[in-house]
This record gives sequence, C-alpha cells and structure tokens, in this order.
Amino acid sequence: MSVELQVVADAEAAARTVAERLAEAARARRHIVLTGGGTPRRAYELAAELEPDWSRVDVWWGDERCVPPDDARSNYGMTKAALLDRVSGSPTVHRIHGEEDPKTAAEAYADELRDVTLDLVLNGLGPDGHTASLFPHAPTLEIRDQLVVPAEAGLEPFVRRVTLTIPTLGNSRTMIFLAVGEEKADAARRAFGDEPSAATPASLVRSKLGQTVAVLDEAAAAQLR
Ligand code: 6PG
Repeated sequence: MSVELQVVADAEAAARTVAERLAEAARARRHIVLTGGGTPRRAYELAAELEPDWSRVDVWWGDERCVPPDDARSNYGMTKAALLDRVSGSPTVHRIHGEEDPKTAAEAYADELRDVTLDLVLNGLGPDGHTASLFPHAPTLEIRDQLVVPAEAGLEPFVRRVTLTIPTLGNSRTMIFLAVGEEKADAARRAFGDEPSAATPASLVRSKLGQTVAVLDEAAAAQLR
C-alpha cells in the first residue's frame, strides 16, 4: 500500500507533472481513468497540448455527478472542455450517464468495464479525504463485489453520484493522485502518511497491479515532511 510522493513547487508544476504522465499514457497505453473536480482541469489542458493524438486511448471516469453531460457540474463536461475537445485524434469515450437513474447508470458502466484492466487511474483528493465519490465512512467503502455503485455526496455539489469501487480503481497498473493547496494538506497527510482508515477513503485506494504516486505541491505536502 506504499505511495511514492512526488512533491513539486506549485499547482502549475503539479498539473504539468500529471499532464506528462497522461500524455505518455495516451501514446503508449489504452485505458485511462480520469477524475473530476477543479484541480485536474489544467493538467488536462496541458496533456492535450503535449499529446494531441488520443486515438489509441479508451477514456473512463472514476466517478460522475448525477447531472446531464452539459451541466456545469458534470465531470465528463469538464473533461470534454479541457481535454477531449482539444485533441485531434479522438479517444473512445466511456461516459458515466449521469443524467440517468444512478443505479441504472452504475450497472451499465459496470457492464462496460467488466474484463477491462485499467492502465492509468487519475484520482483527486477532497479536503475531507474522499476520492472519486468514495466519502468518509460511506457504505461504498465496504463494497467488494460490484464494480460501480451509486453514492451519496459528502461534499458539494450535493447531487447523487456514481462511483467506481475500491477494487475497481485498484485494478490498475498505475494510479496517480493529484492534490494541491494548503486546504488539502491535512487530507494528504491522512491519505499518504497515516495508516489506512475509513475516515480517509483515499488511504484505502491503491493500485493492486503496480505503483501508486501522489503528485502534490509544497502546500499540500506540508504535513508530510
Ligand atoms: C468529484 C471528484 C472528486 C474530486 C475531489 C477533489 O466528482 O467531485 O471526482 O473526487 O476529485 O473532490 O476535487 P477538487 O479538485 O475540486 O478539489
């Protein structure tokens, strides 16, 4: 469960570090899981500049808010604007259908994901220690026999969610967490420095097939060093 820490000066450097990983994966690998939230937006923009040909890639999401794809809160929508609309060679896009009933959307996504080994999973980190839509002490943390499940939001936006489960995210060759800013420092220490705990879901999510890397800026890493 060990995590390699990669600490860089600031948010821009963190975005660039992740963008380079994404661009490399887009050249070499097939199945990439992207995340929502605000932090990865810059990394996606840079990744599209570094590697405009994403035609060999299958793009997935770790979670989705239950809103239509053109809603400002949609993780797909954010990714489309920052990355998918900026690349010339289009990837195969596997969108979680946030506009549907969460159970139906989760089952459909699980069917799509079955038998897929993920090459790169990108995760965010909430200030409460959540990642994807796996929130502290939520029942979703216990699920081992389903790939994708509906979830309740523990933080804004308070809309229902659909999330990959811990074993699904862990079925990955490389996992990267991206977190920046002092408001993430406490969560980063709990996720990457302390013992795994249901109080900090990100501490439970690790690659089972390869490496897990946390890309942090100095502010987010402040309590780890
Ligand atoms: C979501 C995300 C979520 C996100 C974290 C961090 O749908 O909200 O997938 O897990 O990565 O909340 O979000 P920020 O980058 O906005 O802090």
